[in-house]
Amino acid sequence: MAGERPLWDFPDGTLADREVAAYLVSDATGWDVVPRTWWAEGPHGPGMVQEWREVDPEQDAVDLVRSGTTPEGWLEVFDGLDDRDRPVTLVHEDTAPLRRMAVLDVVINNADRKGGHVLAMPGGHRHGVDHGIAFHHEPKAPHGAVGLGRAATDRRGDLGGDRPAGRGAWQPGGGAWASTSPSTRSRRWSAARSGCSRPGSLPGPHGGWPPIPWPPF
Ligand SMILES: Nc1ncnc2c1ncn2[C@@H]1O[C@H](COP(=O)(O)OP(=O)(O)O)[C@@H](O)[C@H]1O
Ligand SMILES: [Mg+2]
Repeated sequence: MAGERPLWDFPDGTLADREVAAYLVSDATGWDVVPRTWWAEGPHGPGMVQEWREVDPEQDAVDLVRSGTTPEGWLEVFDGLDDRDRPVTLVHEDTAPLRRMAVLDVVINNADRKGGHVLAMPGGHRHGVDHGIAFHHEPKAPHGAVGLGRAATDRRGDLGGDRPAGRGAWQPGGGAWASTSPSTRSRRWSAARSGCSRPGSLPGPHGGWPPIPWPPF
């Protein structure tokens, strides 16, 4: 935490706080999206620590393909042009782990779900990492989630038979509750609650900022 500088659009709280809170919410779902994350004392003072998970280098859950060549079982997020003006499409696999991750992103209001933040594990499991900019009180997830899994949840509402378990983390005294600051707790709480019923669609570009996390990987 010692090296952190406040972000202009996340002026209160810390990245480390939000990383731990994201783990606690993930843990409450029972979906094992976020690797175990906790507070610890390091050589430079307090901070957060996260278990390292060895990815399968042969697998990708998110990819960039030539437009018109989206593989079977994958979903398209958006089209664009590459550095030589060739049409390309950002795609992701349509799997239960990514659908669950998309639900978690909406609940924690994640502003930073990009390709590199999806870890493809050997057995087909997928972890999400880098949740330092989540829990904003304004809706960020539609911009932040690169639509990962979103198309899948919109289309089928199918979470692979799973439903989030245990809402205890958000109850007063629960882990996620305890790790948000009292001054913003109620706004963050209502944002998380409304996130659960927010319809998902990608926003159009506006204001000079990319409408998605940039770069998307
Ligand atoms: N717990 C983890 N296990 C394995 N790889 C990780 C883990 N956390 C991060 N990574 C890898 O490190 C990269 C950078 O980490 P990230 O948390 O995104 O840092 P930054 O905030 O600098 O972007 C990620 O994109 C991912 O590839
Ligand atoms: Mg990152």
